[in-house]
Amino acid sequence: MDTVSINHRGQWSTRMAFILAAVGSAIGLGNIWKFPYIVGMYGGGAFILVYLVFILIIGMPVMMTEIMLGRRGRQNPVGTMQTLAMQAGQSAAWRYVGWFGMVAGFLILSYYSVVAGEVMAYVFRAGSGAFDNQTADGIRAILTDFVSEPEKLLAWHTIFMVLTTVVVARGVRLGLERTVRWLMPALFILLVILVGYAMSLKGFGQAVNFLFEPDFDKLFYLQDAHGKFVLDEAGQRVFTWTPVMVAMGHSFFTLSLGMGAIMVYGSYLGREASISRVTLAIVAADTLVAILAGLAIFPLVFTADLAPAQGPDLIFLTLPLAFGTMPGGSLFGMLFFLLLLFAAWSSAISLMEPAVAWLSENRSKRFDRAAAASWIGVIIWLLGIISVFATSGTTLRDVFESVAGWFGIEDARFTGKFFSLNLFNIIDFATANIMLPLGGLAMIIFAAWVMRRESIQAELAAERTFVLTLWRILIRYVTPLAIVFVFLYRLVPHPSSA
Ligand code: PFF
Repeated sequence: MDTVSINHRGQWSTRMAFILAAVGSAIGLGNIWKFPYIVGMYGGGAFILVYLVFILIIGMPVMMTEIMLGRRGRQNPVGTMQTLAMQAGQSAAWRYVGWFGMVAGFLILSYYSVVAGEVMAYVFRAGSGAFDNQTADGIRAILTDFVSEPEKLLAWHTIFMVLTTVVVARGVRLGLERTVRWLMPALFILLVILVGYAMSLKGFGQAVNFLFEPDFDKLFYLQDAHGKFVLDEAGQRVFTWTPVMVAMGHSFFTLSLGMGAIMVYGSYLGREASISRVTLAIVAADTLVAILAGLAIFPLVFTADLAPAQGPDLIFLTLPLAFGTMPGGSLFGMLFFLLLLFAAWSSAISLMEPAVAWLSENRSKRFDRAAAASWIGVIIWLLGIISVFATSGTTLRDVFESVAGWFGIEDARFTGKFFSLNLFNIIDFATANIMLPLGGLAMIIFAAWVMRRESIQAELAAERTFVLTLWRILIRYVTPLAIVFVFLYRLVPHPSSA
């Protein structure tokens, strides 16, 4: 397999351009839509604490590893893994790590785009003054109306996928650098203003307690939507490991790790940049935005007496309340959703990039970049239709009943919790909490035990010794053991109560 030379592929113009693109990838719906809703579902402060620990012991070392691998391989993730494996005299099958990541990217973008579509619709809702002086029930009615029409969701999903595909088709660097440069500071300022507004609400103190006073019972025992512990037949609380898995999965998701997005961006990074420094900058920005989002949203939750565990609808139920009451709220709300849309878009671009880079670098005779992007855009768009229906309320039960109906079986009954799941939640859970950690695990095992030492040394020459030692200890022992432990502990049978 021939190595594509740097000259053919281009590089970021500066180290700053790489940081901006990676920050653009990291900061997105994960920070403002997903982080608050999982914090609300899985117990507040204790969840945040565990998440932060995972960012430190898993997210940071995995990010360094991905950038290092990408910059060493200088190709799309499939080619990079294959080339580096062969250089070390190992099996070319390592390329499947790249493949696995591309599949994860397809699946993630398929539902990510549907949520981004909702955000886009909310730009217009906010601008039209629809939220002015609404009650919490009024805001809920607006959301229910909107999501009950799959064709509308589909239209927004389509527009978002077209916008993303167009940019990826033109090459990632065009436009992205400039957009992210003004977008991120603007989003940050708006978030700070929202937090300022939230401080004036009566629920602010309660929100701060919820976010920063860890209560581990809330992390480890199952609760209903109102935060009451669920009891089994014997009246005992029910142990759950799901929140820990979600915290780990989110440390990958929010930093765009485990699927090759950061690897492919790293492949365009110049040799002189210190990987640990850029990692620190990206992680700091990402974490700050997530915490600010929590501080903006939970005061609204407690002030309006909403249950924190609303799930994926949380931002669509809370933020409009603020925009409906604050002075200049419709303009401000429109701007906020618009910036969030751009943040989602710069993440979506990175979700598509590994596959497009692979297709256009490997099958360049048949697919130029534009053709590669278009094909991949269409496939992801089609996959997204599943999430469109799931968002408008279709569950697995509905799917099974329709399929049974096609075969003329009218009275089939699908009972049980499994059938009330919807595919949106399943895809989200499986990609973020299982696929990304597995992908990341494979990458660090590769860097720690398979790759040639000299290659690593050459790539990390700009690092300080202690950083290098720390990174090595983490990726050899701490990080893989942490990931494996989180997976395996789920399989261990647990006593119901403390
Ligand atoms: N990090 C993005 C977010 O937090 O919204 C989502 C994401 C982008 C996940 C790219 C994975 C990825 F490869």
